[in-house]
Amino acid sequence: MAINLNTPRDSFSSRLGVIAAAAGSAIGLGNIWRFPYVAGENGGGAFLLIYIGFIVLIGVPVMLSEFVIGRNTQRNAVGAFRKLAPKSLWPLTGFLGISAAFFILAFYTTVSGWTLEYLYLAISDGFKAQSAESLTQNFELFRTSGLRPLMWQNIFMFLTAFIVYKGIKNGIEKYTKILMPLLLVIIIILGIRSVTLPGAAEGLTFLFKPDFTKITGKVILEALGQSFFSLSIGMGTLITYGSYIGKGENLGKTALSVSAADTLIAILAGVAIFPAVFAFGIAPEAGAGLVFITLPMIFDQMAGGYFFALIFFLLLSIAALTSTISVLEVVTAYLSEELNLGRKKATVIAASSIAVLGVACTMSQGPWAILSVGGYNLFDLLEMVSANIMLPLGGLLIVLFVGWYLTKDAVFAEISNQGKFKAGFKFAYLFIIRFLAPIAIAFVFLNGLGFFSIFGSGN
Ligand code: PHE
Repeated sequence: MAINLNTPRDSFSSRLGVIAAAAGSAIGLGNIWRFPYVAGENGGGAFLLIYIGFIVLIGVPVMLSEFVIGRNTQRNAVGAFRKLAPKSLWPLTGFLGISAAFFILAFYTTVSGWTLEYLYLAISDGFKAQSAESLTQNFELFRTSGLRPLMWQNIFMFLTAFIVYKGIKNGIEKYTKILMPLLLVIIIILGIRSVTLPGAAEGLTFLFKPDFTKITGKVILEALGQSFFSLSIGMGTLITYGSYIGKGENLGKTALSVSAADTLIAILAGVAIFPAVFAFGIAPEAGAGLVFITLPMIFDQMAGGYFFALIFFLLLSIAALTSTISVLEVVTAYLSEELNLGRKKATVIAASSIAVLGVACTMSQGPWAILSVGGYNLFDLLEMVSANIMLPLGGLLIVLFVGWYLTKDAVFAEISNQGKFKAGFKFAYLFIIRFLAPIAIAFVFLNGLGFFSIFGSGN
């Protein structure tokens, strides 16, 4: 194991910085692009309810467990397991995370590229007076066109690498602190416009009124996958960020605030999107294009729509960027600490090798549609496998590791900052990571993948 002992390890400089960076990782396209479309495909209200249940009961404890591992070891996702469990198979959990980082970043930069195109369209007033049909058609044309989405994707990957290259304090922290609150404000404004559209009520009913007949094994697995994806957990992102958190921070509170902020933004995105979906007669299960079709319709109906469209897509791109840097950081930290590559070299190698998979992913949307398995193109496949399989599996291993491999005393010491405060939730936390979370994840997994069926297959 190669650890550079000469230079002090980079870290976050303030409490606000820690929360902003972790929230910046969590809040992203997962909330605004993925949450509404996955909720739309999986029945709306019932999905939301299960999703929130998973955030509270599994998501927050998994996030705290990642922080525990990271801050305790001050290492990257692989090195952390190597330090705590040398000569064991546990470091494989870290490698699972590194692979997930490749998969996620490949399709995530595709969608991030779409947001840049839409930012460009917003600037050039490209949504004016278009019908839902023509917006859908234009989105499809663009998505499948190959070269243009590829150009945006690579610009985005370059921006991501640029910030990661700069390091923690002067890169990641600086850029996230100011921009997240701004995003919140703009989503609230959009939500207000959306719920005041004629016919909006139907959308709110769809989002908030659970229809329990819609629940299937697949819906539950999708909700679990979405909760992990949205919180950035299960792949060591928050082990890595946790390793930059100072010893004086309260990890439990941090996990709770980050998860609350993330969930709030997802729900607000739903409130902005579903009323408009119904008001404009778009199908809620329209899929990955949902926000790119719905939101331009709202902007067109708003006073000052040009201006709002512009800042919205700008902020969405930035929200995506604060997430992509956290994913790239997982691979960069691994390469630089474990292979002793030097941070800058590690960033370049990580970004360029992921970009290769990214190209295949973007091209699989159109020109290389041949890159598909069982009706899923490469993009869909990477998205599904990473969110619904790799992240929950990683989360399962992480809670088992903290719950059963680490000693109870070590875990309690870490979450209470060596006994500096009480951490009254510690027994509940221990119960969850030892029993509830592992059993629930394993159950949802096997049921959702069709090993047995409690709620029907959902197909
Ligand atoms: N949580 C991010 C989002 O919602 C995506 C992400 C997943 C980031 C996994 C890091 C790790 O957009």
